Amino acid sequence: MSGIYIHIPFCTEACSYCDFHFSIQMKSKAELVEAIIREAEMRKDFAGGEAVETLYFGGGTPSVLEVPEVEKILQAVYKYFPVDPLAEITFEANPDHLTEEYCVQLRRAGINRLSIGIQSWFDDDLRMMNRRHNAIQGEASIRTARDAGIDNISIDLIYGLPGMDSDRWKHNLDHSFLLDIQHLSAYHLTYEPGTRMYHQLKKERICAVTEEESIGQYYMLLDMAESHGFRQYEISNFCRPGYESKHNSNYWNFRRYLGLGPSAHSYDGKRRSWNIANNRKYVEGIMKGTPEAGEELPGKAERYNEYVMTSLRTVKGINLSDLRERFGGEWEEYFLGAGEKYIVRGQVVKEDGCYRLTREGMMVSDAIISELMKEV
Ligand SMILES: C[S@@+](CC[C@H](N)C(=O)[O-])C[C@H]1O[C@@H](n2cnc3c(N)ncnc32)[C@H](O)[C@@H]1O
Ligand code: SF4
Repeated sequence: MSGIYIHIPFCTEACSYCDFHFSIQMKSKAELVEAIIREAEMRKDFAGGEAVETLYFGGGTPSVLEVPEVEKILQAVYKYFPVDPLAEITFEANPDHLTEEYCVQLRRAGINRLSIGIQSWFDDDLRMMNRRHNAIQGEASIRTARDAGIDNISIDLIYGLPGMDSDRWKHNLDHSFLLDIQHLSAYHLTYEPGTRMYHQLKKERICAVTEEESIGQYYMLLDMAESHGFRQYEISNFCRPGYESKHNSNYWNFRRYLGLGPSAHSYDGKRRSWNIANNRKYVEGIMKGTPEAGEELPGKAERYNEYVMTSLRTVKGINLSDLRERFGGEWEEYFLGAGEKYIVRGQVVKEDGCYRLTREGMMVSDAIISELMKEV
């Protein structure tokens, strides 16, 4: 058993780009914590006795929880599952929640990895994104967490923002690498339907960056990460040696995982299932016996598609003999046939029996991956 993901579906306010599942109505927070604890009990056999190696509080914003609420959830997880004493326990947090006391108590509760949503070091970007923190608070939150003894800190940045040119992105990277962080997740802005930024774009109140600018910013990210000793291990993820996120790496290695909370997904090695993405209906579902909204037993084509999509996003890429072992020679041939043109174009390269995206390929990864997939 690899890990348990716990979705905390609340945020203080909506950021203008985000379409994750969250509510800004905190009234039901206590009730939801109880429901998550109940779900942990209901699904206690999921691990089948295998040790749980990682726990991950994601959101939404886990840092809207009071520390006793975090402790309650952790106690339930430890009660119902055999958690490895050295488990990586990650907690996503917004900078404005990270006071000294909160960090010290989180550390005491067992949190040993923090993922902080910095997004940008420019206050005007942060205002545009409707973030609640400013750059000074962002920097202070990293120092505070560090001083509290949390020595594995990741930050999130977003590039390709409207008005962001290479100089501003360079400043964001320069500033981040000066700080005591071990891990960086950097995402290109996507305009998600239903978000404020999506509407602003449609109404031409904001302007998307050009493709050339996007490519330039991604290459700058790769170059600067490397020159500061950060290893890229996935399209959007970089770390100092030894600080890869174990939780995400387990997803990418197709290990089993359990998701607790509204909208959380689970995979038991055969069956995929997902919980309803609605806080009230989730609580009702728990009371009635299941919060699940759907399930599937992926067939070979679905499993192959997921394998290609996930593996190609990692810098290791696809190991051909592993692909053959999992899916057989026919699928290996399909992959090689469909992949050939990307090798010719220099977007995919073969090294030590593995096919991986080159820099040029990473820029257009979605298009390449969808062409390599099989029709289901
Ligand atoms: C669940 S949030 C992180 C936790 C916390 N709520 C926060 O905002 O700091 C996950 C991350 O996904 C990224 N993200 C969300 N929506 C995005 C979008 N539309 N484009 C690019 N990055 C996005 C942000 O960097 C964000 O920090
Ligand atoms: S980015 Fe984080 S804080 Fe902002 S709305 Fe999304 S989950 Fe909430």
